[in-house]
Amino acid sequence: MLILGIESSCDDTAAAVLETDRPGVAVVRSSVVANQDNIHANYGGVVPELASREHIVSILPAIEMALRSAECDLRDIDAIAVTRGPGLVGSLLVGLMCAKGLAQSIGAPMVGVNHLEGHLLSPLLEHSSVMPFLALVVSGGHTSLFLVEDFGRYRRLGRTRDDAAGEAFDKVAKLMGLGYPGGKAIDQLAQRGNPKAVRLPRARIKGAPLDFSFSGIKTAVALHVRNQNGKTTAPEDLAASFQQAVVDMLVRPTMDAARELDIDTIALTGGVAANSRLRARLAETAQADGRRLVAPSLKYCTDNAAMIAMAGSYRLLRGERDPLSLDAEANLAL
Ligand code: KG4
Ligand code: ZN
Repeated sequence: MLILGIESSCDDTAAAVLETDRPGVAVVRSSVVANQDNIHANYGGVVPELASREHIVSILPAIEMALRSAECDLRDIDAIAVTRGPGLVGSLLVGLMCAKGLAQSIGAPMVGVNHLEGHLLSPLLEHSSVMPFLALVVSGGHTSLFLVEDFGRYRRLGRTRDDAAGEAFDKVAKLMGLGYPGGKAIDQLAQRGNPKAVRLPRARIKGAPLDFSFSGIKTAVALHVRNQNGKTTAPEDLAASFQQAVVDMLVRPTMDAARELDIDTIALTGGVAANSRLRARLAETAQADGRRLVAPSLKYCTDNAAMIAMAGSYRLLRGERDPLSLDAEANLAL
């Protein structure tokens, strides 16, 4: 079965073609992402109105390019999987309406997919038999820990109580004048810095050891910058200290959950999974504990449509379809 995946929940317009005949066993024939960073960088964050307008411009070219690189035609597509939430509703509607129009025109079934389910199943794009596994999803919009038991069976073990980890990276980067989005800039700068230079708090939630909180660290960095009294900390030291604190706050609950549930495989996904320190630290800790880390390639960690096609595939393979009246839901729960 050839599935066309469409993703437009935030500021990336993405299309992909996935070939699969068995749930979780698939070949990514193509995956195209049109990034809007240069547009939103001027505003220091995603501007919803501009994002949806840009999706309108980019969505058909992205789909055409995905079909071309998969060496197929729209008529070869057997089914369509599209993100229906959570996300910016104006952005979601562009992808959903496009999917409905295409599904109707080629007479193919369409399913709406939860964006988070896409992130959760993204490890299956490169590793077929990893279930059950623990998934740490860390992006600009989400920070959650899930137990993935099977297709459609996900148990949320923890979540952030305030900012997402990527949001903390972006806010600290902005404070340090590193531009938007700033996670990558902090990662690069931190490679030359001392992670022990600045003492920063590691927040834990009383009574909820698997939950996260990142608003305090952002404030602590802001206070540190404000109270330097002329004795300026080197930016690379501040970046390394901040990054280490975030990594510690992500790794500890993840490892606690892995031990508690005795799960061998830990998956790391979402845009912040690109962080070199987080990848290395989680891999090291997991290995020292006799477990393994499965981290998708960076192109499948950040928003993409191959993971959406994967998340739609097991339902499509069962013959399910959603009606054309399907609506976008900004706060869709998993
Ligand atoms: O998954 P994603 O592409 O979009 C969503 O938020 O859904 O994630 C984007 C986030 C941004 O906050 C960005 O700063 C962060 O991922 N990010 C990083 C790195 N690369 C991207 N954070 C830390 N280190 C990185 N290398
Ligand atoms: Zn995402």
